Amino acid sequence: MSARVDALLERMTWEQKLLQLQIVWRADTAIQHDLARRGIGAQFWPPSVAAVNALQRVAVEESELGIPLLVALDVVHGQFTIFPTPLAQAASFDPAVAAADARVSAAEARANGVNWTFSPMVDVTRDPRWGRVVEGFGEDVFLSSRFAEAKVRGYQGDRLSRRDVVASCLKHFVAYGAAEAGRDYNTTDMSHRRLRETYLETFRAGVAAGAASVMASFNALNGIPMHANTGLLTGVLKDEWGFAGVVVGDADGVAQLVDHGIVPDEKTAVARAIEAGVDVVMGGSLLVDDDGVAVLTPGELSPARVDDAVRRVLTLKERLGLFENPYADERREVRSATAPARAHARAAASRCLVLLRNEGAVLPLARGAQVLLAGPFARSTDHLGAWVQSFASPVSQTLADALAEAMTDAALEVADGADVFAVSEEHLADVVGRAARADVVVLAVGEPSALSGEASSRADIALPAPQVRLIRAVAATGTPVVIVLATGRPLVVEDWVDEVDAVLVAWHLGVEGPAAIAEVLVGRTNPGGRLPMTFPRAVGQVPIHYDHESTGRPPRTGGRIQGEAHPGLAGPDNTDDYYTSKYLDLPLGPRFDFGAGFGYTTFALGDVAFGRVVALADLEAGATIDVRVRVQNTGTRVGDDVVQLYVRDEIASVTQPVRRLRGFTRVTLEPGDATTLAFTLGADDLRFWTDDGTQLLEPGAFTVWIDDGVSRVHARFELTQREDAA
Ligand code: BGC
Repeated sequence: MSARVDALLERMTWEQKLLQLQIVWRADTAIQHDLARRGIGAQFWPPSVAAVNALQRVAVEESELGIPLLVALDVVHGQFTIFPTPLAQAASFDPAVAAADARVSAAEARANGVNWTFSPMVDVTRDPRWGRVVEGFGEDVFLSSRFAEAKVRGYQGDRLSRRDVVASCLKHFVAYGAAEAGRDYNTTDMSHRRLRETYLETFRAGVAAGAASVMASFNALNGIPMHANTGLLTGVLKDEWGFAGVVVGDADGVAQLVDHGIVPDEKTAVARAIEAGVDVVMGGSLLVDDDGVAVLTPGELSPARVDDAVRRVLTLKERLGLFENPYADERREVRSATAPARAHARAAASRCLVLLRNEGAVLPLARGAQVLLAGPFARSTDHLGAWVQSFASPVSQTLADALAEAMTDAALEVADGADVFAVSEEHLADVVGRAARADVVVLAVGEPSALSGEASSRADIALPAPQVRLIRAVAATGTPVVIVLATGRPLVVEDWVDEVDAVLVAWHLGVEGPAAIAEVLVGRTNPGGRLPMTFPRAVGQVPIHYDHESTGRPPRTGGRIQGEAHPGLAGPDNTDDYYTSKYLDLPLGPRFDFGAGFGYTTFALGDVAFGRVVALADLEAGATIDVRVRVQNTGTRVGDDVVQLYVRDEIASVTQPVRRLRGFTRVTLEPGDATTLAFTLGADDLRFWTDDGTQLLEPGAFTVWIDDGVSRVHARFELTQREDAA
């Protein structure tokens, strides 16, 4: 409760209130100023500090109430200094990477007059056809939740009134990542249990971390488009979780209730959305028309709901300190990536690379080796990723430049001429000829940034065919091949992966991407990332995720289907193996699992050791169970291990996932060094949701796995109701 907000609400007319609930974009300067003068609540960033200050000045000095503007921009993985994409960041298994991105991004944004970012995207994503998987933190709810918290805290700092932080926005609420068939904006339909367990949980974590706003998603969920979903926007988010911040509609999402076919016109759409819990409408003049007339009367829209929405908006402005400091300090303006910001972006990028294959230890590149670099990403500057604006600082160094700089004593040759979608016969012959004379070929291949992101779903998630041809032709020369894979999503790599020697997933690593890749290739830094999303064998397997539920006919991992390259449609003759949950035309499981990846050294995991296994009643009262494991670097190089803890509730009244991530730690160890890592399991880690909206924690056996993407150890504990029953 704030005296200033109360006093303003007291003075505001109906139109003035409704104007605070609108955000417009794509307007020219004259229209922006006119809207600011009339008292609109929020605008998109007009790209410069001078322009944003001029706009704020109109709002503060020329509008009747003098309320400053929320100035919004999608600063998703950098404004000027572009960091790795969020999916790449998740591969670091190190939330500090996301926190660093958020801090640098927030400082750049606020210094330039932006006070509100539409980030982080915390949609759990299990379908790599969906282009927006690049914007989130992958398929796992626990990993995504930890990254959501880190991003929110990084953007917002310890208080929003600081001059180097921005208000964050969790999006897209909710289940947008479950779009049917991986097609953007498509419908979702799911059990209450799955919604709670997986899709709502990242938002709950982000709200608990203090996120200032939440964006409604475009999809309908169980028949109700999210912009009209009272049960979730108001019932769960605001009432159950006590979220006191701003709910913003997505771009034209309110108007699109008409396209969803649940309301006849935009006027009804906006009434439905506001009543459902949307506080700010993005796009259009749906509340107050261009002539300044309110579209809805107080009879058509509850004044109490409008007051609540306005209060949320004004409170956010107050928390941001905008009433005291509406203007950005023009002396602190940032126009491009600075050296310190780049250093953070480089450090972040170095932690996101994932090594999935390294036959014969072809990586790191041997000293003195003759290296041929080829492929469409050899001289590409397309490393920024999907969510960047035109003013982002460009990539100045290609992989060819960076590798030449990093390779001090080896000889580098570069074969230019491959395009992402076309490789000529001449180029193919040239690369093959030169490959035969090289000691190792590095092929930088992949998906351009534009193939992932919003409205960029793909039905086929393989590499473009000409690149596959290039890989296979080079591999056929017998010279070892290292693949550097640029991508915004997990790809299907079956056509070539067994023919190459090394695979390094490079995602889109941002402005410092090429340098980070080159340093890993030469061994100056160690790859230590792990996959935040499963790489399927075929698109027919998706949606695919490691934490699938047990079925009644699980495939037999020891059976004869396992490991066969292509059993084919004839099927195996062993009937025991036949009637199981599998595909006839694929070996079992994904190509590369969630959590997979390794580095240039080796690690040994000790046994899983439990501390005192307390009883269920004690867990409920806040006690925890300690889990410890010793990890040792058994190789000859320094390296990072990502130690992951998974749990399975063996017998539960509701079918459980085969395993669920409940902890992870990334640790750097010198050769020979060992450390003991400690994890804790609390009631929340072992509970599950039922479909009637309750959470249960049941006694019985639990299996715990410690897994570092290479090896796995496990142990069981028995949870009793009370200690004396043990
Ligand atoms: C996207 C949002 C984004 C908004 C504003 C929409 O199309 O779905 O993620 O924040 O545009 O740029």
